[in-house]
Formats: sequence, C-alpha cells, structure tokens
Amino acid sequence: HGTAQIGKNEHLWIGGADTVELAKKYGTPLYLYDVALIRNRAKGFKKAFEEKGIGYQVAYASKAFSSIAIFQLMNQEGLSLDVVSGGELYTALQAGFPADRIHFHGNNKSPAELEFALKSHIGCIVVDNFHEIHLLKTLGEKLNQKVNILLRLTPGIEAHTHDYIITGQEDSKFGFDLGNGQADKALQEVLKSFQFNVLGVHCHIGSQIFETDGFTLAIDKLFSHFKSWNNDFGYFPDVVNLGGGFGIQYTDEDTPLKPEQYVMAMIEEVTKQMSKFKDKKMPEIWIEPGRSLVGDAGTTIYSIGSQKEIEGVRHYVSVDGGMTDNIRPALYQAKYDAYVANKMNETMTNIVSIAGKCCESGDMLIWDLALPKVNDSDYLAVTCTGAYGYSMANNYNRIQRPAVVFVEDGEEQLVVKRETYEDLIRQDLPLKTKVFV
Ligand code: LLP
Repeated sequence: HGTAQIGKNEHLWIGGADTVELAKKYGTPLYLYDVALIRNRAKGFKKAFEEKGIGYQVAYASKAFSSIAIFQLMNQEGLSLDVVSGGELYTALQAGFPADRIHFHGNNKSPAELEFALKSHIGCIVVDNFHEIHLLKTLGEKLNQKVNILLRLTPGIEAHTHDYIITGQEDSKFGFDLGNGQADKALQEVLKSFQFNVLGVHCHIGSQIFETDGFTLAIDKLFSHFKSWNNDFGYFPDVVNLGGGFGIQYTDEDTPLKPEQYVMAMIEEVTKQMSKFKDKKMPEIWIEPGRSLVGDAGTTIYSIGSQKEIEGVRHYVSVDGGMTDNIRPALYQAKYDAYVANKMNETMTNIVSIAGKCCESGDMLIWDLALPKVNDSDYLAVTCTGAYGYSMANNYNRIQRPAVVFVEDGEEQLVVKRETYEDLIRQDLPLKTKVFV
C-alpha cells in the first residue's frame, strides 16, 4: 500500500523511512502513518466531486483516528471533520480546525456537548432523535442562536462488505426511520421551529463496504421521500450527506473499489434522481470517510518476543502489544496481514499465530500467518492498522498506549507520545488512611 517498499537492506520502508530504524528510535509497539497515502486518498475523494462540478464536503470521520496532528493534516487537505463527542470536538478546536467545517454526530449528545458545539459555532449538528431536537431548541433559544442541522435518517439499508440487508423498518439505535413516519414527523418539527436552519439530511449505511449498490439504493429511498416532502411541506434539501463506510484491503480476501468509484456511483445516482426534480437545485453531496482515509496508511511495528510451539498443533509467536493497541481481531474477528520488517526477502517457511501480551487467550492478532523463521531481535509489521487502532486503544493490563509517528518524504515526526507509567496513574488517588486513636 502507498509508499511501502522493500529497501536494499531488505527492510520495510514507509514514506522513505526505514521502519526498523524508526522502531529502534521510538520503541515498540509503534504506529506509523504514511502521510502521502492519506493526502492521496483525500485528493482522490475531492477530485471525483470537482471533476463533475458537484458541490461537496468530504468530512473525515475522526473516530477512525483522532489526534491534533491528523486533524491538522486533514485541514491542510481542505477536508471537513465529523466528530462524535465533546472530546473529539475539543481536540479538533485545539488543532485549530475551522469550526465551520465541523459536523457533530451521535445518538446521545449531552446538553453540555451540544452547548459546547453551539458556542463554538460549528458547521452543523447531525440531529439524531426527538430528544435532541428538544434539547437544541431550548439551547438555541437560550443562546439566541439559529442552529444549522442535518437530519439523520435511517433508510432501512445496512451494508457490510459484500452484502446489504434491506429491512422494512430498521432496528437501529441511530436516526429517524424513513419507513415508519418518524422522519416525516421530525422534519415537520424542525421546519416549524424558527430555531433551526435545516440544511438537509444524512444517512450512513455501514462500514467496510465493497460495492456501490447499498449507496445507490439508499439514495433511491431518500429521493422518493424528498418527493413527498416536496409535495407535503415544500421542502427540498440543500445537502445530502451519504456517510462513510468505503472499504479497504486488509488482506487478499478484501476487494474494495477505489475511493473515487464510490463517489462516482453516488453522483451518478443523485444526478439520475434529480431528473425528477426539474425545478430544484442539485444538492451538495457530503461524505464521511474514516477508514478509507487512514486505514491502510497505518502500520504497527512490534518487537517479537517469546514463542511457544505445540508439536502438530500450533506455533505461537508473541509480540509486545496486542488487544490494547488493536482490539479489532478480538472484537470483530478482523483479519490482518503482517511481515517481518527486517527480513522482507526471506522465504516464508513457517505458519505461526501472532499472540498479544495481554492476560487472556482471546488476545490474538493473527491466526495462521506465513512468516520466515523469527527470533527476539526481529520486528513484526502489521499492516492496515491506521483506522480504529489507536482510537480504540486502551490500557487493559495497565499497558501504555504506543507512540504515533508520521512519515513523509523520508522525514518522520512524532505526533503522539508513548504513554509512561506516570501517565497510567495520573488519575489515581490513594486510599484514605483512617485515623484511629
Ligand atoms: N459516519 C458515521 C455516521 C459513522 O457511524 C461512521 C462509522 C463513519 C461515518 C465512518 O465509517 P468508515 O468510513 O470509517 O467505515 N470500530 C469499527 C468501525 C465502526 C464504524 C462506526 N461508524 C471497526 O473497527 O471496524
């Protein structure tokens, strides 16, 4: 992926830097990001819209990986930002991200989070439910502010990799259902309140999607609703946000399309639907990719440690991280590929399983992986760890979260420091000693 290549020294190089040298310098586990690949992806999404002259926003779904530096990088590339908590919003503002390009998501935003967002004058709030409509109405009145919103709609389509499921009425905690009248009621409520500026609608149909059918179907469903909204309420959206979910290739089994192919399919379908609305302006199309912007740009370098061979059963190779820095295999049975970063040209003679260092058997990163013979001076590079790796990292077993380093054009930059033991006890308070006389 991206700038990854095998150097003359048979090491894995990324962004013009030797990953083995970086591992020695910054320690392991270490998350490395190929910045050029992220920029490439961002440009790919934007170009697809620009070539067709479509108004758009590409909002990076920050849940995939949030830190000050990644937000600054996305800002450099002219992207917008989707945040889902006060914490992500705070990080974005600290990064100097322009508030008017921040969109706030979530099915249970607290009054404090909403007030923070309104006071920061962010671009829009993606309203998820009736409770939130009421909270925003009250807050808007209190702050004497008109609130820009998108309505999150649940079209009854759920897409994952090769499949999508159509359910008459989706059982989801998110959004207003299109199927049972909730969406119509929500629209009526926000339209009749002076407090809201209803920019348009949003829908997100799933994640790690390899085909375009789910998106085009969602567009069909949305636009048939727009027909009745136009007739009944005289409303037509200026913005249609179609969410994220574009897949990436973790292993050979995965067959994603190119980012721009998803966008092209969306544009085509929206354009087709617009022929039914001759007097209306083409809405802006917004998308929210997370994984496809940062996923395959990330690689985790581990040090190899102990090994256990059970004759005829399994060969375990342990690394110095695991479910604390990548919970996806344990949580979703997610599959990854890996290489020995300092032995890139050696023949893969062994089938091994990569174990993490946490105290439970489920802490396995990869099952049945072909590798050359390894020992404890080798480094394992697990690829495609850039999305939902660091952002879902945790301190289970009081393991420190790793450092994050960006590489580009042979230059590296530490963007998140490795946690220390002191960091681990920073919020702890000692037990009160009872004073007995
Ligand atoms: N927009 C909304 C409203 C979302 O809920 C999500 C992801 C995205 C955008 C970005 O989706 P992406 O382009 O990254 O697929 N932790 C899971 C993924 C959870 C995705 C949740 N929502 C994982 O590690 O696979």
